[in-house]
Amino acid sequence: MALLGFVQIPLTKVKSVRESLREKGLLKNFLKEHPYKMIQNQKIACHPLRNYLDMAYVGNITIGTPPQQFSVVFDTGSADLWVPSVYCKSKACVTHRSFNPSHSSTFRLPGKNFELKYGSGKISGFLGYDTVWIGSLRTMNQVFGLSQLETGEAFEHGVFDGLLGLGFPSLALKGTTPIFDNLKKQGQISEPVFAFYLSTKEEGSAVIFGGVDRSFYKGELKWVPLTKPNYWQIALDRITWRGQIFGCPRGCQAIVDTGTTYLLGPHAEVDKIHSLMNAVPLQEEYLVHCNARDTYPDIIFTINNVDYPVPAHAYIRKDANDILCYSTFEAMADTLTKSQTWILGDVFLKVYFTVFDRGQNRIGLARAA
Ligand SMILES: *[C@@H]1O[C@H](CO)[C@@H](O)[C@H](O)[C@H]1NC(C)=O
Repeated sequence: MALLGFVQIPLTKVKSVRESLREKGLLKNFLKEHPYKMIQNQKIACHPLRNYLDMAYVGNITIGTPPQQFSVVFDTGSADLWVPSVYCKSKACVTHRSFNPSHSSTFRLPGKNFELKYGSGKISGFLGYDTVWIGSLRTMNQVFGLSQLETGEAFEHGVFDGLLGLGFPSLALKGTTPIFDNLKKQGQISEPVFAFYLSTKEEGSAVIFGGVDRSFYKGELKWVPLTKPNYWQIALDRITWRGQIFGCPRGCQAIVDTGTTYLLGPHAEVDKIHSLMNAVPLQEEYLVHCNARDTYPDIIFTINNVDYPVPAHAYIRKDANDILCYSTFEAMADTLTKSQTWILGDVFLKVYFTVFDRGQNRIGLARAA
């Protein structure tokens, strides 16, 4: 997680349920009233997420009995669940909701400490077990972190209280089982699959557990095998601007991360795209003319021999006041750069509906509906 941090033509023009619902402004209610659906005999749970200022996608969960509610980032770039605890005096904790274990009858304490480092901060505290609800999905005896110390501005200013990691068990704290593995083990979902639909609007985004709902994408899903089941990591062939390869020239690795806002790459390659875009540095960001959002070409990410164009209005961000426009390409910290890895964050995932398939260790991509 770092917070700052193909095109398929539909075979029919039949409107999806989703489109019609959105038109009528009913999607939000639909998601609320039908969080748990049976589709093709699959147990699929659709959980609503909110797009917070195009910075992060957050959703509600509860922990404990009776339930204590938290807003968390559903993060494919990490594998642990944690929330602030009432024992935390850090600024990030006092400005957010915190978990009180003494108010939960189902809480258990293994007496182990933990520490987690992210691209944007550090968390430490102790581990507990309790019942966790994601909408209608329940996991019992789920391990989670109760923070006692939180450092990093992303945690102070974030609209989220904690993180819910959806990475592989190998990425999780030693000896702990991530929540998705427990959901599967405890029979809450039929298929070991989850998917993200990230909307550009504040409402309407969702994380879908247990299967795939066709109404969220156009055309067919294209599957990409994972190169290493640890991160959601795939091979990237190249990144192209007007026929010119500026990124990943000899092929490289890419991590698909819902917890990263932007598109992160090696310094030299990000510098190159910024010079192609005529972007100028301003503080920590790169400024671009706002009319570029309508005139610049698609940037093409080629994955497994399939082109995934990302249009200029997606990779150039307008600020909250609608005056300045910025590049969403960002150079990665030097330690990661050495590995020539790219991180495909929300900017990419808004354009492409993404399926994370733990059963077959692959990622499915299709144009978002
Ligand atoms: C989370 O819960 C609050 C009420 O506590 C509600 O206002 C908000 O819309 C919910 N967020 C999502 C993404 O469902």
